Amino acid sequence: MSKFQLQDEAFQSSGVSFAESQQALQLSPSIYERLGEEGLLELSTLFYDRVFRDDRETWFLNIFSSSTKQQAIDNQYRFLVQTFGGPELYKEKKGKYTRLAGRHANYNIGRRAADRWNQHMQDALQSHSILQKDSEARMALENYFQYTAHYIVAASDFMRPDQLSGGTKIDEGRIW
Ligand code: HEM
Repeated sequence: MSKFQLQDEAFQSSGVSFAESQQALQLSPSIYERLGEEGLLELSTLFYDRVFRDDRETWFLNIFSSSTKQQAIDNQYRFLVQTFGGPELYKEKKGKYTRLAGRHANYNIGRRAADRWNQHMQDALQSHSILQKDSEARMALENYFQYTAHYIVAASDFMRPDQLSGGTKIDEGRIW
């Protein structure tokens, strides 16, 4: 499976093209400049607050059972700062490679999980103090997350065993 086939599969299931998903990374001012570290921490916190109280869909909450909420917030926050134009906080903690698909491949994540993940993220984006008023950034982030979640699902079928990793407890101390 080539990178382009994966991108096409992610497009088919998310409805967002690779090019559309990348607009969030190209905004000027950048998402990092618009939200700052505080604003990105607010987004991760709003998101994981919703995930960790998702007792209506326990199959979804169970995917996160090897992680603590605080660690999950910290990992995602660092990733968002680094990805959207800020300092390389994720690299500082996790090493050189992001390997988003590999880091998710030990979990049982299919399209239904990607959709549930995005429902929580959409809700977090809409509740965010700055993004509520910045529809350009909010829409760009929505597309980015929508596409990336489905890319992760498509790519996880093609991971080699040595590319697999996982959450806070499974992955403790592992730096790539
Ligand atoms: C497809 C649905 C998804 C599910 C069910 C899912 C689930 C998880 C779980 C269970 C963890 C471990 C929590 C931790 O301890 O850090 C995790 C980590 C993480 N997720 Fe996701 N995730 C999904 C999509 C995404 C997307 C779309 C992104 C970013 C665009 C993302 C970014 C991350 C990051 C950066 C980490 C930390 C990884 C690490 O450093 O080990 N995830 N995710």
